[in-house]
Amino acid sequence: MKIAIIGSGYVGLVTGACFAQVGHEVICVDNDERKVKALNHGRIPIYEPGLEQLVLRNVAARRLKFTGSIEYGVDNSEVVFIAVPTPPRADGSVDLTYIEQVAREIAAVLKEYRVIVDKSTVPVKTGEKVADTIRRYNKVNVDFDVVSNPEFLREGCAVTDLMEPDRIVIGANSERALAIMEKVYEPFLAPIMVTDVNSAELIKHAANSFLALKISYINAVSAICEATGADIEKVAEGIGADKRIGRSFLNAGLGYGGSCFPKDIAAFIAISELIGEPFHLLQEVQRINQRQRERFLKRLRDTLWVLKEKRIAVWGLTFKPHTDDVRSSVAIDLVNDLIREGARVTAYDPKGNQRVQELDLCPGVHLANSALEAVQDAETLVLATEWPEFSDVDLTEVRDRMHTPIVFDGRNLFDPATMRDLGFQYFGIGRSLANSSGTNQNSNGASTHGGLRPLQECRGIADSSRVSRGGKTDRSVPMKDSISSLCRGNC
Ligand code: UGA
Repeated sequence: MKIAIIGSGYVGLVTGACFAQVGHEVICVDNDERKVKALNHGRIPIYEPGLEQLVLRNVAARRLKFTGSIEYGVDNSEVVFIAVPTPPRADGSVDLTYIEQVAREIAAVLKEYRVIVDKSTVPVKTGEKVADTIRRYNKVNVDFDVVSNPEFLREGCAVTDLMEPDRIVIGANSERALAIMEKVYEPFLAPIMVTDVNSAELIKHAANSFLALKISYINAVSAICEATGADIEKVAEGIGADKRIGRSFLNAGLGYGGSCFPKDIAAFIAISELIGEPFHLLQEVQRINQRQRERFLKRLRDTLWVLKEKRIAVWGLTFKPHTDDVRSSVAIDLVNDLIREGARVTAYDPKGNQRVQELDLCPGVHLANSALEAVQDAETLVLATEWPEFSDVDLTEVRDRMHTPIVFDGRNLFDPATMRDLGFQYFGIGRSLANSSGTNQNSNGASTHGGLRPLQECRGIADSSRVSRGGKTDRSVPMKDSISSLCRGNC
């Protein structure tokens, strides 16, 4: 099928590359000329495991191209996806300026029937507004349909999530549009849920809010564990073993960040207030998230006493592992909190250093070139993002390099007993040494490598045998190779 995708950010680019990979002809449109030029020269502006290979492969196969012209995209496609940013306003509501602008631009060049698909995360009833706008600005009265098709891609696992979705949600109010959308997703062999447009829009906000609620819930329980000597990892296993609850998104830590959860929860709260049904539960989710970082800082202060002039190493700056995205990163907020208190912070992130430097996100921080360099002479190490690379660092060398071997593990990456045996003073989130068994056990009861917390793994990118064109298996499109190993992480 011929598909245009407007917006080549995280969502647009991953979606475009994956659609091309299953055999569709995809035109990615972006108004940033430099980005279009870079992409046309094979330079990928973001780090996302597996994405570069997919883009290069599909550009070479002529299934994927990049342009700055919306008209070219709309003229040469049956379906037009909108994947532009929906940034937050100061009051938490969503700024829909880019969506409205793209709707007007599509209207101006629309000459025959197209399905216009909203992929960006938007408040309920946005689809109706997009349809009104296109109708108003299209001079030739062309027939079209607006569909909502929310994305459920986690950064760092986005390619896998798109190739092997749990479900595909299509919110369509017309049979004609639905039939076209089903053809788009036929090669993915995944369950398709059909709803009306408003329900599909709501599914996205409700899903992200629920996941954030799970995180805040376990973080609130972690505070009780710290106060009572219970162990949050065991409590999470115990809760998560109940199939009705599930273990995922019950990892206690410094709180959620990133470009989605904080923004989407604020937006959901704002919409609920606008329609007169205020969602107070989500306000508490936000409060717990904020308090989690404050509690962590308090524990640092309680242990180190004065933070001023203390040499603190921070491992991790991105909002989660396997991405270079530093937007709304709790790690960055924490570094800035420490700097404000006068600490001398040396930070290291496997992928985030460059962005932090370019955008000057942590003025006063010293950026190290490796995890070991960061801990040299440090009086404390804070682990803020659970990159697997940090699990592989020789902890004996870390201890020897540090001035005083104190570790604050903000993501419970390390095993408390192992750390104690190595001579560290160790603080995790919601865990106490008293309850540490000395070996970490995964959910099957098996001991895990090096006493580290078990990292859940991505399911890996779809197997090549599942990739098809027009429903037929296509083994000429190589799929799996090394991408699944790149996706390994906290997925
Ligand atoms: C999230 C959703 O998971 C996706 O389904 C959704 O499509 C996406 O937002 C979006 O709206 O575009 P993402 O923000 O990329 O994806 O990353 P997550 O893996 O959900 O993590 C979000 C934050 O929660 C991170 O800061 C992470 O460290 C934190 N987290 C996650 C926890 O603190 N504990 C957990 O158990 C899980």
